[in-house]
Amino acid sequence: MTNDILITKANRVLRIQLNRPDKKNALTGAMYDAMREAIAGSNDDAEVRVVFIHGQPDCFTAGNDLAEFQDLERMIRERPAMKFLETISTAVKPIVAAVNGSAVGIGTTLLLHCDLAYAGQGAKFQLPFASLGLCPEGSSSYALARMAGHVQAAELLMLGERFSAERALAIGLVNAVLPDGELMAHAEGRIAQLAAQPAGAIRATKALMRKWTAARVAEVLETESRLFGERLASPEFGEAARAFFEKRKPDFSRFE
Ligand code: COA
Repeated sequence: MTNDILITKANRVLRIQLNRPDKKNALTGAMYDAMREAIAGSNDDAEVRVVFIHGQPDCFTAGNDLAEFQDLERMIRERPAMKFLETISTAVKPIVAAVNGSAVGIGTTLLLHCDLAYAGQGAKFQLPFASLGLCPEGSSSYALARMAGHVQAAELLMLGERFSAERALAIGLVNAVLPDGELMAHAEGRIAQLAAQPAGAIRATKALMRKWTAARVAEVLETESRLFGERLASPEFGEAARAFFEKRKPDFSRFE
């Protein structure tokens, strides 16, 4: 049990709120487990028609907790992010995300597994995997290129720069960009519409839309996860993580 994820159910919507504001909603194993269990539980819960994921008004999530990444043995043993990704990528009910503030790493790649996504105009997305000495995860090496085209995906994944809500809209990662203060009301309006649609038809539509790439996505997630585990043991990631917590720029110049 963790208070860093708040889960509520009302009006046929399962709401998952990321709630660790002091650490910018950085995701711990316990948080992944809570989200995974909630989504898995929604699959055959007739009271749930839509799953809604959101963060705080100023932050979606800073991605995986970098301190937990340093405990490599536990990461490899427990694989909380991988189990979460397996569950969200095979979810039965439609998933809607609302992104305000930073959406870093898995905060961006989990959107590839959502069905509708909305961003506040101040939202900032980032896929800093390579900049951290890591490699793409969340099926982004496949699904992002498929969505945005190779050169767009390569720029975002290789240079790892923050990008705007407008760019997220242009590459098809979100449905719409709203003034920050209107984001939640807009997302909630779309969710209410979705929840009022015929539930069986929505489940069938989602199942069909995901079916054609499901086997490939599962394969990509597994392959990325294996390489990601190797990268976590690399001196490049060691330097990047130390640099983050020492609040300095990493120096990769001595690594081949
Ligand atoms: N893991 C662990 N702690 C994190 C974190 C993460 N991914 N992201 C932020 N935090 C912590 C910071 O260490 C800081 O803790 P402190 O107050 O004890 O020093 C606190 O959250 C606030 O972060 P800070 O960097 O001061 O906030 P900011 O508003 O200046 O920047 C971000 C927000 C998200 C842009 C920035 O925190 C960031 O880049 N985080 C790392 C993102 C990342 O690399 N994620 C991994 C992807 S694989």
